[in-house]
Amino acid sequence: MSNAVSRVALKLPRHIAIIMDGNGRWAKSRLLPRIMGHRKGVETVRDIVEESSNLGIRFLTLFAFSAENWSRPKTEVRSLMTLLKKYIRMEVPRMMRNNIRFNVIGSRSDLPDDVAFALDDARRITSENSGMTLTLALSYGSRQELLDASRRIAADIAEGSLKPEDLTEELFSSYLYTTGLPDPDLLIRTSGEMRISNFLLWQLAYAELYFTDINWPDFNRNELMKAISDFQSRERRFGLTSDQIRSGSAN
Ligand code: FPP
Repeated sequence: MSNAVSRVALKLPRHIAIIMDGNGRWAKSRLLPRIMGHRKGVETVRDIVEESSNLGIRFLTLFAFSAENWSRPKTEVRSLMTLLKKYIRMEVPRMMRNNIRFNVIGSRSDLPDDVAFALDDARRITSENSGMTLTLALSYGSRQELLDASRRIAADIAEGSLKPEDLTEELFSSYLYTTGLPDPDLLIRTSGEMRISNFLLWQLAYAELYFTDINWPDFNRNELMKAISDFQSRERRFGLTSDQIRSGSAN
């Protein structure tokens, strides 16, 4: 079976988004410094990216650093930026081997120059790949994204290139950082927290939500499969009734 055929047959989510949480608690419970949790978290990122791509997931979006995370202790922020830069530099060859297209969303101008340049390089080098799209959300906040989109829409209306009545959900989506990505089908959050935390507020409107108590450094291929099978057992109705879904008709 080709990946596309098996994806439909198995009802695989096309787009999985993940809030990777619990690195600090993982480290604390082992009396280790928080950065050790982030380091172990990077290993999980590697495994989950590879497994998702092998399974035929088309889009994987990882919340790696929120706009609010800049308020963490300076040493932790610095270590996270260093880890990120190392990850990008080391993973590009593997992304090329796995035909993965790399993408970033968030506020690029907040990032240190060396990190921003490494991200630009990874994007450019992998831009022709046609397999899974891996998106890292970095210095990302969904309310800011919605505000930015609203400002740009207002500016286009003011200069006359857009009429208010022409604004549809689809057109609105095209003003978001995620333009070109389908909405996530499945959101996974680790570490037992049951919040969305300013992540993809518009895009998650119809996503299935999956919460697990496992901390991100302990999340693994098996836990990913559990989340996917849970998704497969759910009936997505998009506001319709079960009968309508079963008969394949919305009338
Ligand atoms: C949440 O754990 C995790 C983060 C804020 C950062 C996620 C970063 C990584 C997994 C490593 C770097 C990422 C990439 C893509 C290379 P937390 O620190 O909030 O944990 P806590 O809530 O237990 O304190």
